[in-house]
Parts: sequence; C-alpha cells; structure tokens
Amino acid sequence: MELPLSYYGDPVLRKKCQPVDEITDEIKKLVEDMVDTMEANNGIGLAAPQVGLEHRIFITYVPLQDEEGEYGTGQLRVFINPEIIEFSEEQTEMNEGCLSIPTVHGEVVRPFRVKVQALNLEGNEFVEEFTGLEAHCVLHENDHINGVLFVDRIRGKERKALDAQLRKVKNDYYSRRKKK
Ligand code: NI
Repeated sequence: MELPLSYYGDPVLRKKCQPVDEITDEIKKLVEDMVDTMEANNGIGLAAPQVGLEHRIFITYVPLQDEEGEYGTGQLRVFINPEIIEFSEEQTEMNEGCLSIPTVHGEVVRPFRVKVQALNLEGNEFVEEFTGLEAHCVLHENDHINGVLFVDRIRGKERKALDAQLRKVKNDYYSRRKKK
C-alpha cells in the first residue's frame, strides 16, 4: 500500500529516529508499504520519516552499473537500525534529489565507499560494503533517520541558490498537504 510522503517543512523530517526494538508484523508491513511507496514514486531509496514514522529504517533500490557503465536493475535492500561502521577518505560528488523535496537537485560530496552494519527483515545482522551511487544512496537515507537532508550538505552560494526552490516546495507540497 502506497503511503503519503512527508515533504520539506514537515518536522518529522528533522527528527532523530528511534531504534526498532523488535521486528514485529507491523514493522514488516511498514517496510512492505515503504517499498510500494518508493516504487510508486520511482525512488531509489526511502527512509521511514519520509512516510511520517520515526523509526531507524530505510530501504534502497539502486540500479547497478555493468562493465560498460550501463545501469541495470538493482536489488532491494532493507536496513533496520543501521550503523555506518567505516567510510573511505576518498569522496565523490553526485547529483542528488529526494522524494521529500520534489524538483530540487544539487551536487553532494560523500565518501566513495561505506561499510554498514544493520538488521535485515528477518532480524539477522549483516555487514556490507557499498561504493559509488549505492554508497551515496545509503548515506543519503542514513542521514534521513538522523533528521538530516541532502540540502543541508550543500553550502555557500550553491545552497543559497536553492533557497527559493525550497520555499516553494514547502508552500506547494508541505503546507498544502497539511491543510487537507
Ligand atoms: Ni531523501
């Protein structure tokens, strides 16, 4: 079931989310609904606060590059109570967007490689390494569960250039939704 998205301006996007104590049927249903919501909006990742819930959960579905550099189908991944346990000093800049901040895009610098520890839907702990676009996506979603948005990582005149667009998103999406 597709859930309504939270938009820029919504306080839930600024909350430090809470760890999941137990992977109940309710949590499993939430993850299922998050997948539906991400797919319906053509996203490559989604975090629980983006559907209004303060849980440390995010999902990613990043298209993978083959040897020729062509992007193909990705793999759906679920991260519950994730921890970034390592990241490379090497960084890359990529153009990011966010389902909670429609129409806004910007270049964000993040580590090229990260190692993440998390629980999967079965409650089993896993440790996995991600690079490139996948690393960016994991870090973007991990920011969400700490109340951080990609636009916070853009500084100076690049950030200033986004101000008017951000105000517009707040008016057009968040305020409009709130009045309903
Ligand atoms: Ni986002």
